[in-house]
Amino acid sequence: MKVAIITGGSRGIGKSIALNTALRGVGIILTYKSGKDEAQSVVSEIQSKGGKAIALQLDSAKIKSFSEFSELVKKSLKNEFGTETFDFLVNNAGISGQRGSILEATEEGFDELVNVNLKGPFFLTQKLIPLLADGGHIVNISSGLARFAFPNTAIYGSLKSALEGFTRYFAKEFASRKIRANSVAPGAVDTEFGGGKDSSMKKHLSEMTALGKIADAEDVGLFVASLLTDDSRFLNAQRIELSGGFYI
Ligand SMILES: NC(=O)c1ccc[n+]([C@@H]2O[C@H](COP(=O)([O-])OP(=O)(O)OC[C@H]3O[C@@H](n4cnc5c(N)ncnc54)[C@H](OP(=O)(O)O)[C@@H]3O)[C@@H](O)[C@H]2O)c1
Repeated sequence: MKVAIITGGSRGIGKSIALNTALRGVGIILTYKSGKDEAQSVVSEIQSKGGKAIALQLDSAKIKSFSEFSELVKKSLKNEFGTETFDFLVNNAGISGQRGSILEATEEGFDELVNVNLKGPFFLTQKLIPLLADGGHIVNISSGLARFAFPNTAIYGSLKSALEGFTRYFAKEFASRKIRANSVAPGAVDTEFGGGKDSSMKKHLSEMTALGKIADAEDVGLFVASLLTDDSRFLNAQRIELSGGFYI
């Protein structure tokens, strides 16, 4: 059985990626930060459909905890999935963090976003790479805001650009092991992210989208799950914007 690690799999986009990937016969290790019950209910839903899944706690901002986390993954792979390696890493966990203009930004808000959205996925990938099978696939969840500039999102959007940059470097550095890396950049998605979007915001964003609506988590989950198959075997070092045609 192939195994995927999906960070932030307790709700929103990560939950949908976990459920849809499990339906394709892949074992799931999903992580949560504080939503243990929500994570456990995703695990139960996967199990009820005949899949295999476990949930582990992880705070992406606590870089020093990643060695211990990787040891836990190693043990879990052996004990729960009967394997020494996993096949897919989805760096999905993220926060919207401090919003506001560049003039309003604080160093604390900046650092929090750097830690969770950039240093987290970078060092987690570094720590888990020895356990990722040759031929594995890393998918980093970016954002449309890495391409277009919206008010009050300078730090968030720029860090997602940096994550896309790291994606290409992952593809380059791990190429000798045939490990691929791609980033998926959703447009607006209807989740609880950053407190969710009110109906006037959804209407405004929908009107800017060629397909006439913003994504729901399933729109993104289905696509990412499709990347975690052999069908995407020649896709590498790419940024794929999944927005229904936003701001074109
Ligand atoms: N929603 C959008 O409009 C949108 C658009 C483009 C890109 N994205 C990106 O898509 C990804 C997922 O977003 P979403 O909309 O699904 O968000 P969400 O509904 O807020 O879910 C966030 C997930 O990340 C976990 N998480 C939060 N802080 C964490 C931390 N410090 N360490 C580890 N895990 C943490 C949460 O765990 P707990 O439940 O335990 O807190 C939860 O599982 C993010 O990278 C985001 O930047 C979102």
